Amino acid sequence: MTEVSSKYKVLFVCLGNICRSPAAQGIFEHIVRENGMQDRIEADSAGTYGGHRGELPDRRMRNAAMYRGYGLTHRSRQVSGLDFLDFDLIIAMDDQNYEDLMHLAPSVEATHKIKRMASYLTTHKITYIPDPYYMGLDGFGLVLDLLEEGCGNLFNAIKAEL
Ligand code: 4NP
Repeated sequence: MTEVSSKYKVLFVCLGNICRSPAAQGIFEHIVRENGMQDRIEADSAGTYGGHRGELPDRRMRNAAMYRGYGLTHRSRQVSGLDFLDFDLIIAMDDQNYEDLMHLAPSVEATHKIKRMASYLTTHKITYIPDPYYMGLDGFGLVLDLLEEGCGNLFNAIKAEL
């Protein structure tokens, strides 16, 4: 018999699924574990572009994340319309990801699952998570700062709803 997951499922989405979204997944999973909620909340990540399919996160992001205690082991995959059935919440890193997800959503109801990561920021005044791929190493640190704050607030918002 197929087991239907009763966990709350969050999908983080960026362009390549090798920098921002796997980092968000790793940080969010860390918070979930710290709070002992692994049996209630689950996370995954994906990219709107499938060209990095099967790859580990970018080495620069893995190193920057490891320095803060997050081991990133996700393998890149492309987001699909089926993800809208599987996940409760789909978090876009920037405006282009948001627009691409809105087009991919199979129904109007499904579009309501899409939120911007930046909408969970409180102290940082920025409306998107910048793509660090062509930035220097400082860019990776900035992205991790943003994701740590956003994931913390996102976790608290979900926990309050469960
Ligand atoms: P991400 O960064 O969307 O945060 O994973 C990127 C990674 C790869 C590419 C673009 C953005 N790329 O064009 O290959």
